[in-house]
Amino acid sequence: MPFLDQFDFSGRRVCVTGAAGGIGSAMARAFHGLGATVLLADRDRDGVAALAVELGGRAEWHAYDQSDIASIEGLARAAGEADVLLNNAGILVYEPLLKLTWEDLRRVVDTNLVGVIALTRLVGEGMVRRRRGTVIHTGSQLAFSGAEFRAVYAAAKAGVSQFTKTAALEWGRHGVRVNCIAPGRTLTNMNRRLLSDPADHAKGLERIPLGRYGRPEDIANAAVFLASEAASYITGHTLIVDGGWILP
Ligand SMILES: NC(=O)c1ccc[n+]([C@@H]2O[C@H](COP(=O)([O-])OP(=O)(O)OC[C@H]3O[C@@H](n4cnc5c(N)ncnc54)[C@H](O)[C@@H]3O)[C@@H](O)[C@H]2O)c1
Repeated sequence: MPFLDQFDFSGRRVCVTGAAGGIGSAMARAFHGLGATVLLADRDRDGVAALAVELGGRAEWHAYDQSDIASIEGLARAAGEADVLLNNAGILVYEPLLKLTWEDLRRVVDTNLVGVIALTRLVGEGMVRRRRGTVIHTGSQLAFSGAEFRAVYAAAKAGVSQFTKTAALEWGRHGVRVNCIAPGRTLTNMNRRLLSDPADHAKGLERIPLGRYGRPEDIANAAVFLASEAASYITGHTLIVDGGWILP
């Protein structure tokens, strides 16, 4: 196969959760640009509806709540014979551990871990039956380090990286690859608060050898690679995309 043909997603169906957000919309644009039909899922229905209009053909949207099993089942049905599932929706609660409420704890774990596992299980069933497909989770580099005020978020994302390994192990022989991307701090709404504090902004930058925060496109590029034929021998892996933040 000519090298660049490995990145041709024509005729492929790609389901993106959190598609109204910074990273999810960059992923949707990237796969759409490479010929895929994209299914845009998010609890922000106006956001995904607007993105579907912007993309024009080969784009559908679906109102979706990743903390609700009925909604997860509905998206799995809408995803149909998806070739690629991008499990990207997520939330961040930024609170000291001693201020954490039961509701916050449940919300973060249900959205960032339980929902990811449930959707993978349902969409993956069809992939395993068809012996074709790939799943990519958006985890976090915080799965590998301590993360002040983000205890539950980091724990849930560590769970996603661990889940990636077991799903890859069980489904590899059925022709289905499962991988994870662990972004560092990326310029999206999720980081609005941190990035708007000049001191924290500068402190964060100091730690990054490549000298800038991540762009949503940096994460989308990694997703394209992992979903492509160029990565056909990679499974169970978490790819850290953080400008080297984790190195010191
Ligand atoms: N921005 C970063 O620095 C960073 C770093 C590491 C990991 N991540 C991860 O990247 C992913 C995308 O985040 P982002 O940075 O684009 O933030 P974002 O806030 O721009 O996008 C997140 C999207 O997820 C959607 N969402 C949240 N809860 C949902 C739910 N219950 N059901 C359906 N949709 C829901 C939101 O509506 C939003 O559109 C998340 O999983 C996040 O944890 C982000």
